[in-house]
Amino acid sequence: MAHTPQLAVSGTSTPSFRDIVRDVMKHYKHEKESEAHQIFRNAGGHKPKGVPQIVDPDEETVPGIEHPGSTGVIYCSDRAMANGFSYTSSHEWANLGQGAPEVGPIPDAPERPNSIPLPTDSLEYAPTTGVKALREAVANLYNHTYRQEKNSQYTYENVCIVPGGRSGLSRLAAVIGDVYTSYQVPDYTAYDQVLSSFKRLVPIPTALNPKDKYRLDIEQTKKDIRTQGLAVVLASNPRNPTGQVGVIRGNDLKELVSLSKEGTTIILDEFYSWYIYPENNSDYGKSISSAKYVDDVNEDSVVIIDGLTKNWRLPGWRVCWVIGPKNLITALSQSGSFLDGGANHPLQLAAIPLLDPLHVQQEKIALQKHFKVKRDHVLSRLKDLHLEVDIPPTSTFYIWLNLEKLPAPLNNGLTFFEELLKEQTIVIPGIFFDINPAHRRNLFNSPCHHFVRLSFGPPLKDLDKGLDAIGRVLKRAKKSGMSEFGQGYKTAAGLPEEPAQV
Ligand SMILES: Cc1ncc(COP(=O)(O)O)c(C=O)c1O
Repeated sequence: MAHTPQLAVSGTSTPSFRDIVRDVMKHYKHEKESEAHQIFRNAGGHKPKGVPQIVDPDEETVPGIEHPGSTGVIYCSDRAMANGFSYTSSHEWANLGQGAPEVGPIPDAPERPNSIPLPTDSLEYAPTTGVKALREAVANLYNHTYRQEKNSQYTYENVCIVPGGRSGLSRLAAVIGDVYTSYQVPDYTAYDQVLSSFKRLVPIPTALNPKDKYRLDIEQTKKDIRTQGLAVVLASNPRNPTGQVGVIRGNDLKELVSLSKEGTTIILDEFYSWYIYPENNSDYGKSISSAKYVDDVNEDSVVIIDGLTKNWRLPGWRVCWVIGPKNLITALSQSGSFLDGGANHPLQLAAIPLLDPLHVQQEKIALQKHFKVKRDHVLSRLKDLHLEVDIPPTSTFYIWLNLEKLPAPLNNGLTFFEELLKEQTIVIPGIFFDINPAHRRNLFNSPCHHFVRLSFGPPLKDLDKGLDAIGRVLKRAKKSGMSEFGQGYKTAAGLPEEPAQV
């Protein structure tokens, strides 16, 4: 697509002829011309596949050990550290890359847990399927919320407690046979990595279309099941990073669930099931789950993953669950026994009262109101900056922001990310949500090239700090043209630290 080198910021400014020439010169067409992209390619494990990967002499020293390549999370935090981010200075930074909700008190929500009992029994291993009373509490919550009129009800045998959502995903991936497993792009980045780590199953990515608001095309999925023989379909719903209910509520979700009766296992990652922003006050407190459309809990091969991480705003607890037919749960118990050994015992016990339906309803309403205010605030500030969002999020706490209208090179996610690091702000470049950003394709041709993901998970004051930083970058661009942009990025790695969860 052709771009004009003018800024999409308000007011007029007349860049000098020299600036214009420089701006035009920065109209890179290929990643090789872009400093931000070269830094990315030179980071360990991000060379195009099929050419020798750079061996990081500090890291690749252990015989037989091959680094899987840094994930988006690690790359972004390494780059932030190279720009001075550290845990001691983190309060000076705005982390709009953060894939976690704020964990402190929010208006009208129940008090945050601040201590946990440690009965002697809890010092033992917990079963790899989890503590029975917690499994019962999860089954009860889903029956109460989504299945009051159904004959078939979940029991503890349909629930496996897992130490985090990613653990649930890897337990699942470990028991999928050598079959075609479909996932969509863009979607949660870990799918690509988790699915590729388990060598038996064959991951089949499908590109989602912005024209369909990144929704799963059910008719196409049906066709793919018939023609390609897909045995498993995996999707997040609501979807990260596009912030849409990916398999729209109601009929489409019902239809997707019905495919499970025809021999395809449907895995729905429902971590954002409460993050829905209703237009009508009477709709606060409603959430979305495929559990509503399952007829027989043991016959329909529908698998749900959720947990305390996002909805309960307790990412540090690592208490999550997988729900499905009881013959799946026994398989997950087996893979859990060699993969992770089960979730933390005392925190499983502490989680039980948090699953009480009345408690949940209070949390859900408070969360929806608070996050809706934050979403609307960020969207309105972006609008003031002339960064209107093509497809505003109706769910999750992510904004999938298209930068295409900005002048090059600010219009690509990776350069925008680097420029914001200079302003102590972290966002996530869109290419991390692509099928596999390290593949051979010119990164400039990625459908996610022009995007960044902004999170409105953090508290409002941090969001404002990040938005102020975006404002400063755009102001600088308007004032001085593009000559300062796309270059001068720090490459010296900061002190090694644990990666921030971005
Ligand atoms: C869609 C989705 N599923 C699962 C997870 C991971 O959950 P956990 O942190 O419990 O591993 C995330 C976290 O970002 C997510 O976005």
